[in-house]
Amino acid sequence: MIDEPLPAIEGGEPMFEEGIGYGGQSISEDDKQAVLESMEGDYITRGPTVDKFEAAVAEYVGVDHAVAVTSGTAALHLIGKAAGFGAGDEVITTPLTFASTAHAAVYNDATPVFADVKRDTRNIDPESVREKITDDTAGLIPMHYAGQPCELDEMLAIADEHDLTLIWDACHAIGSTWRGEPVGSHQDAAIFSFHPVKNITTAEGGMVVTDDDDLATRVRSLRSFDMEYDPAGHEDEPWFQVTEGVGYNYNVTDLQAALGLSQLERIEEFKQRRADIINRYEEAFADISGLQTPTVKDDVDPMWHLYAVEIDEGFGCGRKRFVNAMHAENIYVQVHYVPLNYHPLFQSEFGYEPGQFPNAEAVYDRVVSLPLYPAMDGQTVEHVIAAIRRLHDYET
Ligand SMILES: Cc1ncc(COP(=O)(O)O)c(C=O)c1O
Repeated sequence: MIDEPLPAIEGGEPMFEEGIGYGGQSISEDDKQAVLESMEGDYITRGPTVDKFEAAVAEYVGVDHAVAVTSGTAALHLIGKAAGFGAGDEVITTPLTFASTAHAAVYNDATPVFADVKRDTRNIDPESVREKITDDTAGLIPMHYAGQPCELDEMLAIADEHDLTLIWDACHAIGSTWRGEPVGSHQDAAIFSFHPVKNITTAEGGMVVTDDDDLATRVRSLRSFDMEYDPAGHEDEPWFQVTEGVGYNYNVTDLQAALGLSQLERIEEFKQRRADIINRYEEAFADISGLQTPTVKDDVDPMWHLYAVEIDEGFGCGRKRFVNAMHAENIYVQVHYVPLNYHPLFQSEFGYEPGQFPNAEAVYDRVVSLPLYPAMDGQTVEHVIAAIRRLHDYET
């Protein structure tokens, strides 16, 4: 451990020689073996291993259908289309998310309508959602920030009262539960991302999970060219495969699915490791002023994707300097998220501007995601803590 008082941003030796990120995958020998074995099969594109991965995720979440696609973004695109979002429709979501959440509306010519978040959990505020509902509202897309489930009962009630399609962006939250129920098991549908920083990975990948037979059938068809492979009346013409609409090639490969199946077997190990790292952080941060740890609700058991803390005046410096100081230490902390009303796309296309979402923007001003990933060892955790402590000591 480097034992000098000067933070790297002030000329001290960086805490890490090589950079560490805020997230990342853990790949075991079994994971590698699974991928290698899948390459021996007859299929390396979408084949029987994708079917198995879908069945395993459906069983894990407790739903009838799981449809694997190339990314969380693709999942949002297809579920938005399958749900029938289109021109003239409004879809309510959070501004404190990755742009793809809103793209479930945008890709389908619908309008994303942002509702502010709760200041403590950073999840969409049901009261704010209610205020945004109009005759044109067609759907709701809450996002489980950092892995902590939203207020599911409230959101389900709103969807029910107004007959809205409810899609859960659960990209952060496979492995989390709400009142003992797995995230992803609630209707109408949920989507996951399997990007390397997420709770389990397939390198790139995503999934739609639902109990709704029609949504699942539609997403399955759209994923693969919207092609009818066995049209009625052409039973003796096996080559006669025709497109029924504008579909996509969002097919995942058996190689990815083999990795996904192997990772799913490790999900409890990952969940525990993430929790252990956070416990150590919280113990260490108890006496660091101005560093606020996340608020956790009683009725949730999150699988934490992010460990997003807030830096306020008591720390001695602001969030901007904190991030730059950590980067100087070769600790690549990240900010989740620049609110979508700050993005040129949402400003120019939909008229958003800064100042419209006080809670999301207050989070944005202070929040920073510290390194959290299952392959992070104890020594690395201690070095991150030491870097934060020496910056704090220097600034106060
Ligand atoms: C909340 C949220 N939604 C959607 C996405 C998009 O997922 P992907 O990167 O798999 O396309 C991400 C991932 O970056 C995300 O964090």
